[in-house]
Parts: sequence; C-alpha cells; structure tokens
Amino acid sequence: DKGPYRHYMQKEIFEQPVAIMNTLDGRIKEGKVNIEAIAPNAAEILSKVEHVQIVACGTSYNAGMVARYWFEAIAGVSCDVEIASEFRYRKFVTRPNSLLITLSQSGETADTLAALRLAKESGYMSAMTICNVASSSLVRESDFAFLTRAGVEIGVASTKAFTTQLTCMLLLNAAIGRLKGNLSEEQEHHIIQSLQRLPAQIESALVFDKQIETLSEDFAEKHHTLFLGRGEYYPIAMESALKLKEISYIHAEAYAAGELKHGPLALIDSEMPVVVVAPENDLLEKVKSNIEEVRARGGQLYVFADSDAGFEDSDNFKTIVLPKVDEVTAPIFYTVPLQLLSYHIALIKGTDVDQPRNLAKAVTVE
Ligand code: M6R
Repeated sequence: DKGPYRHYMQKEIFEQPVAIMNTLDGRIKEGKVNIEAIAPNAAEILSKVEHVQIVACGTSYNAGMVARYWFEAIAGVSCDVEIASEFRYRKFVTRPNSLLITLSQSGETADTLAALRLAKESGYMSAMTICNVASSSLVRESDFAFLTRAGVEIGVASTKAFTTQLTCMLLLNAAIGRLKGNLSEEQEHHIIQSLQRLPAQIESALVFDKQIETLSEDFAEKHHTLFLGRGEYYPIAMESALKLKEISYIHAEAYAAGELKHGPLALIDSEMPVVVVAPENDLLEKVKSNIEEVRARGGQLYVFADSDAGFEDSDNFKTIVLPKVDEVTAPIFYTVPLQLLSYHIALIKGTDVDQPRNLAKAVTVE
C-alpha cells in the first residue's frame, strides 16, 4: 500500500528516517556498538580481520564503495570493493584473515551469490552478508548476516536499502575499529551519536522536497548529466547517477571531481548540467576549484552543500543549502536529496518510476 504517496519509490525515500531507526534498534548499547547483536560470535571473527573484500552489484556496490573509505579511515583495515560479475570470473589472491562482505538488498542477486560461493572455497576467513531479506539465499549461505531492516523495498530503484546498508557499515566499522584498537572510546561514541541523530537530520533533508522539485525542471529536457564528488561523495555521486539513469532514462555519469581535467571537462557546455556534492569538509577547497573549472566553460552547476560551504546562487549556478550534519554520517544524509532529484526528474519525464523499462527488482540470472 502506497498510503499518501504517488509511488513506492517516493514512499521508500520518505521512510528512510524510520528505516534507519529500525536498523539501529538493539545494535547500540551504552553509547557503543552492541557487537553481539551483529552475531553471537562476531567479536571473535571481527577482531581477527586484517582485510575486507566487499562484493556486490548496482546500488549495493555503490554502498560498498562508500564503505571502503570508512574501513581504511575508521576501522583501520585495508578494503577492496569489486563488482560481483567481475570478481567471480577472474583469478584473485585471497589475503590472510580476509573477511568477505556481500552487500545486497534482495539476497538473491545471481552474481553476488556466485561470488559468495566461490569465496567460500577460496580461503576467506569468514563470509558475512549485509542484506535486507532474512530468508534469502545470501543470508542462508553466509557465515553470518547483518540485516539492514529497511522493510520491504518495492521500487526497482533502491533507496532505503542503500542508506540502511551504509548504516550497518558504519556500525560494523565502529565495531572493528574498537576490536582492533584503532578507534578510541570517544571516537566510537561520536560515530554512534551521529548515527542516532541521523533519522531526524534526514527528516530535515526531506523538507527540501519542493525546492528540489523546482530544480528538477531544469533537467527534464537535457540528455546528459554529470555528477561530481570527492572522497565518500564520489560514490554518492555514482549512486545519484545510477538513480537518474535508471528512472529518468537520462544518461548520467559520475566522476571523482579530480578527474575532470582528465577527460570529462571536454563535455562541458551550456547543455551539460553538472551536479556537485560539496559539503564543508577538508576536501571542499579542492571541490571548489573543480566547480570553477566547470563554471569557466559555461556548465550549468547544481551544488548540494551546507551553509558552512559558503555557496550562493548566481548565473548558471544553483544551490541547495542543506543543514550542517556530522561529517561521518553526511554521505548517508546527502544521498536523500539526490534521490529526490532523480525522482522529480523522472516524474516530469513521465516514466514508470517504480518499474523502469528493462529492469527487474532482483537480478536472479546473470
Ligand atoms: O538486491 P541487490 O542489492 O543485490 O541488487 C543489486 C542491484 O541489482 C540493484 O542495486 C540495482 O542496481 C538497483 N535497481 C539500483 O537502484
């Protein structure tokens, strides 16, 4: 039942505060991650992890790409991320004490499942899945599962599965960081508090719906869109580009903003909308110079930022100024207004938002 919503996708976007609350429920104890709630033997396994290999497809792969930044910065373990259909068909070297993590909404994605089966024969220390469906094949066949609890996701375009996957990933990172002595108690408390504040912050992002709807009109006649970000916002840009392609059929690409000069700058003209995710952080000055490169070539800029980033609207330059949120959870937060952008563009285009052409919700064949 869609309730007051026009589409399941819209409903699922607006459900994210509750979905994230459900994902956190029982997984926090006295300001720390309740590691036992991940799995009874999770502490024993996670304390031995020296490397993480993430395998997934589509949006779940993009969540893995965000998590890679966290594994190396928060948990202090090396991390690789690979598309399941590539991982399963190449020769790979398994590193010592390596944890395999599959990420999946459905738990039935054929390539991801094949990658898990292969990894189990390839010397991985343990195989974990972060998955939304408790009864799925991935959950059954993994050594342990960390369920996302997003609730049923019907829209083919994944929304709340992605943000709850990232929520699980932050909990997992805090747990591994503590177990390996790479994270202080204070740092762990900060991550937990940021996660607890996140549902209300996402509510405050949803308030921008109307403003984003107005912005979306600029995109409807365009044939291409470029999304830019740095650090964790590069995979957030990837996820936003995937969302736009999938439901509006507008060709969209994401680039790490630092790659602009290495090719995509040649595409910039007044017909090319460029969406930049640019909250205030250590990389903002770098992102600002990338924005200038686009501006100088007449590109149409749409910048999602916070008030501390100091952007203002001007010719060919529109901003969505969101509230300032904790840096650690900000990638999850910024996902939401960008989901709304794709949703509204698709509405104007008149596509079948919940069931885009040629796509299936669960890709059970390769
Ligand atoms: O169920 P999974 O998370 O394993 O599915 C993976 C992809 O098929 C899925 O994320 C797909 O890319 C979505 N339609 C994206 O919105």
